[in-house]
Amino acid sequence: MTTYAVVNTKGGVGKTTVSVHLATMLAKRGPTLLIDGDPQASAASWAAWRRENSNLTPSPTTTCLTGKAVFNEGKALAGGFEHVVVDAGGRDTAGLRAALLLAQRAIIPVGASNLDAAAMTDLLTVVELARDYNPDLDVRVLLNRVDPRTKDTAEMLEWLAEQKLAVLSARVCERVAFRRAIGEGATVQELGRDHAAVSEIEAFFAEVTA
Ligand SMILES: Nc1ncnc2c1ncn2[C@@H]1O[C@H](COP(=O)(O)OP(=O)(O)OP(=O)(O)O)[C@@H](O)[C@H]1O
Ligand SMILES: [Mg+2]
Repeated sequence: MTTYAVVNTKGGVGKTTVSVHLATMLAKRGPTLLIDGDPQASAASWAAWRRENSNLTPSPTTTCLTGKAVFNEGKALAGGFEHVVVDAGGRDTAGLRAALLLAQRAIIPVGASNLDAAAMTDLLTVVELARDYNPDLDVRVLLNRVDPRTKDTAEMLEWLAEQKLAVLSARVCERVAFRRAIGEGATVQELGRDHAAVSEIEAFFAEVTA
């Protein structure tokens, strides 16, 4: 069983978008648990919208947990699944720490701006702490909401290299399809309109599950 934690203390970077896509793609391979660790329960809202449309299958089993329960309850529930994805939410540090203890792989979605870089300092401290207890934790950064017209991505990559962070070669650009898909309880594949969005998220999936 592999547990993935999708984490960042910064809001709006794409944690929920990445989590629901990863969990839905994993659900095609085997029983998958999606833990919504965000008190705002965005992944759970997506799951509720998804249930309204019976054409959308398979689905990950979705549950909401916060704080330490992400680790304790998460561990107990995970036993019945082949894959687990935690949408670690934004500001709940206890839940974020618990997710990093539960997981074998952590994915950090980031935007490519100076603000995104500045906001990562806290997160990097939490990741370092988690490594003391979970030394095999594999941490990878995903550049999301990329705007290929700007130089921001190159600057962000330089900064991430200075922090000695592993960056996935797959990148996800800013595309309306992602916003639409979430609002319909779907994935960009199920929406089927934006082929570029589909190939980006599938490249991410192939790399992160390899
Ligand atoms: N690649 C993308 N292209 C376009 N829109 C995106 C992309 N990724 C995320 N978004 C949109 O950006 C907003 C924030 O994304 P999301 O909710 O996944 O981030 P989050 O990190 O989970 O935020 P929060 O901290 O509020 O939980 C949403 O409206 C989402 O649809
Ligand atoms: Mg979210």
